Amino acid sequence: MTVTLILAAAENGVIGKDGAIPWRIADDMKRFKALTMGKRVVMGRKTWDSLPKKPLPGRDNVVVTHDTTWQAEGARVVHHVEDALGGEVMVIGGAQIYRAALPFADRIELTQVHGDFAGDAVFSFDRSPWRETARERHATPEGLEYSYVTLVRG
Ligand SMILES: NC(=O)c1ccc[n+]([C@@H]2O[C@H](COP(=O)([O-])OP(=O)(O)OC[C@H]3O[C@@H](n4cnc5c(N)ncnc54)[C@H](OP(=O)(O)O)[C@@H]3O)[C@@H](O)[C@H]2O)c1
Repeated sequence: MTVTLILAAAENGVIGKDGAIPWRIADDMKRFKALTMGKRVVMGRKTWDSLPKKPLPGRDNVVVTHDTTWQAEGARVVHHVEDALGGEVMVIGGAQIYRAALPFADRIELTQVHGDFAGDAVFSFDRSPWRETARERHATPEGLEYSYVTLVRG
């Protein structure tokens, strides 16, 4: 089993605002698609609600909620993060689910957005158990700078 967290975070840890992502980086969306395609994607109920198109096509969608009566068309529903794990898993957010899945994660595909953003969903983590194996810096046509950073445990 491998568990990868895939996330984009501002320098101040913000990952979301009012149920959406506070920036638009088209290349990061392409990268997200490429890295998750054909795999299991695990998300919190609020991230599921935020998806413009559900389920994410070509992926095994799993949604985590406490609500035992809740159902989602096109997704499997689980009530504990552990029940979503198995095989090659990509954890796609949001902040609550990243926190719950972090102890199980082997890898983090982080898009570090170089700036501070206002928001209500924040995820930051202790970097000490993580080793950086790749880093690539880019900028959007509008000049927003960001880096793709791969972290592996150990
Ligand atoms: N920047 C990024 O990479 C990225 C990625 C994904 C999402 N986001 C953003 O993040 C925000 C959403 O994040 P969020 O932290 O508010 O919500 P979330 O993690 O997507 O979902 C939270 C919900 O998941 C369920 N849940 C959480 N922990 C659970 C547990 N241990 N066991 C069972 N169910 C559990 C609960 O659902 P119930 O309330 O139904 O019980 C909870 O309300 C949005 O703004 C979204 O756009 C950003």
